[in-house]
Amino acid sequence: MIHAAITGWGKCLPPAVLTNADLATFLDTDDEWIVSRTGMKERRISHVPLGELARVAASRALACAGVAPEALDLIIVGSTVGDELAPNMASGLQHRLGATRAASMDLNTACTSFLYGLSTATALIRTGVLETALVVGGEVPSPFMDWEDRNTAVLFGDGCGAVVVRATDREEGLLAERLGCAADARGALDIRGVGARFANLGIPYGHTHWIFEGQEIFKRAVLEMTRAGEEALAKRGLSIGDVDLVVPHQANQRIIDAVGRRLGASPERTMLTVHKYANMSAATVPVALVEALEEGRVKPGAWLLLPAFGAGLTWCAHLVKWGERTTPLGSSDAELPPCDRTALEIVNELRARRARHAAAARPQLDAVQALLGA
Ligand code: ACO
Repeated sequence: MIHAAITGWGKCLPPAVLTNADLATFLDTDDEWIVSRTGMKERRISHVPLGELARVAASRALACAGVAPEALDLIIVGSTVGDELAPNMASGLQHRLGATRAASMDLNTACTSFLYGLSTATALIRTGVLETALVVGGEVPSPFMDWEDRNTAVLFGDGCGAVVVRATDREEGLLAERLGCAADARGALDIRGVGARFANLGIPYGHTHWIFEGQEIFKRAVLEMTRAGEEALAKRGLSIGDVDLVVPHQANQRIIDAVGRRLGASPERTMLTVHKYANMSAATVPVALVEALEEGRVKPGAWLLLPAFGAGLTWCAHLVKWGERTTPLGSSDAELPPCDRTALEIVNELRARRARHAAAARPQLDAVQALLGA
């Protein structure tokens, strides 16, 4: 039986840090509210497009695996809103890496995109279609935030993570998963302004208006992540007591705590990054996984449970058996170009650009808001 081992891992976080105090300079919010409701203290804001973060994260993952870019058979870029639609993000990454043999595919299931990508790559390896794949989970939501909306603007951050997956005859890698979608609740998270539906109505591309029913998403996320976790474990005849580390999607500390309580996983066995990176959508799980490895929290042969949810509302949980190696084979010298602005300066530029677009398109925006009932 062929399995698909995770043999390389890498992350890339943009250097500019946006604190809760920064947000309070232009929003009616404060550190106490944000920390108590979400656990978030700061997040990163990117000075470069997602493709650049992906290049660095992928180069690090490849070096970690000791795999040359030319050896890749497949690149999957999991993301909600990439840099471009046609050509896709994955072909741009293939070009940047020089991974000339790789098929290149984008995948969007919102925050679960990395994990759905891991399922896809693993299935293609198990069935003998290919041997070596790169799976990226990345998101740069900052240009698509409505920075004047305190309900959503405080929750997200930019970042990227990547893993290399290779065929092996050892029983390791992704060994069970449960995938699902609560489409009856898809209206609870609706980012208006980034699709043809909105372009047809005259909304400038990227001028977003977030429909966001936080409490409904919260409730569904806890239910579905718990169910997915239990069902993934049951597929292998395991219980939560067998799991060495839970690496969940990082949308809210309270969601993670509630899922942990329901599953029976202690906080000591749960990986957290939400306090320093906030919700990086498709990037949260791979970045948390990379940091768990860097911190020595993944032991050889460990069982990992990776529950997640995202817009759609897609949900899933992945059960991974780690291999023997928990340290990188090599390192990469790939870096981002230097950043000469603070995160607050970048955000204020995005706010000013949005205000200019809004002034220019005011009649259309008013008409569309009335039409959509927002
Ligand atoms: N600062 C201060 N006050 C705020 C802020 C803010 N940033 N945001 C909202 N409030 C106010 C609200 O206006 C409301 O005021 P009101 O009572 O006067 O109307 C009050 O705080 C309470 O709001 P609630 O919605 O009750 O707050 P709640 O405890 O539910 O927390 C939160 C809100 C954090 C959004 C929570 O519901 C949540 O985490 N939901 C899920 C998160 C999520 O969906 N993430 C994205 C998932 S999909 C993906 O990952 C892409």
